[in-house]
Amino acid sequence: MKKNVLFLCSILIVLFFVAGCGAGKKAEGPRLLKVGTEVTFPPFEFREPGSKEISGFDMDLIRAIGKKLDMQVEILDMDFEALIPSVKRGNVNLVIAGITITPDRQKIVDMSDPYYGSGLVLVVRKGNNAIQKPEDLQDRVVAVQTGTTSEEKAKQLTGNKVRSFKTNEEVFRALQDKTAEAVIIDKPVARYYLNKYHPDAVIVGDTFATEAYGIVMRRHGELTPKINKALADLKNSGEYDVIYEKWFGKETK
Ligand code: ARG
Repeated sequence: MKKNVLFLCSILIVLFFVAGCGAGKKAEGPRLLKVGTEVTFPPFEFREPGSKEISGFDMDLIRAIGKKLDMQVEILDMDFEALIPSVKRGNVNLVIAGITITPDRQKIVDMSDPYYGSGLVLVVRKGNNAIQKPEDLQDRVVAVQTGTTSEEKAKQLTGNKVRSFKTNEEVFRALQDKTAEAVIIDKPVARYYLNKYHPDAVIVGDTFATEAYGIVMRRHGELTPKINKALADLKNSGEYDVIYEKWFGKETK
């Protein structure tokens, strides 16, 4: 009799664990990847005028990564300077926003392997011949987006005569209404804004700071190796190239 009870108990315990594991799996459900970005950075992340949808190179890339990880992607738009703190606090799982990999940022968050080679350029109004190179910015007012590498560069080059704005639309407006003499911004984004909205502005010279973009994640989190693996897979399979060409054509990477 005692033996039987013991036997029954052990069966029950085993059943309990098996059921428990099953339930655990189910509870995971369709997994959600919460992605932060800032949408005044075309062609990486932006809204076409009149459209609610957020599109761009980064958006296509992160949706492809989500598919690879079998996760549902939810995009959240926020101020640029709020992005990295949001990853740290865990409000979002990652940030993709044309974010330059820098040693300072790598001290507080993980950054993926580089996914896009970029650089900063100088933009002025057409006909402003006083500014030909970054050194000419000394004591001139430069417009930049708050929290960016451009802001940092502008502070060094102007002697702190910087006007910082939440959005890049405001940055270019400051150039247009002459409350700033120049803009510092990432080259592909400058090209987009000038082609589309500011034909009266020009890029002077070539990129004066080389940068590479990375995806931002919580420091030492389990997501970092997964994202790097998905990124490498997309590069190897040619899917990355398809997305790249959709946004940048045959331009060299
Ligand atoms: N690459 C620059 C940086 O990391 C600017 C990025 C701005 N991105 C944006 N979505 N507004 O600081």
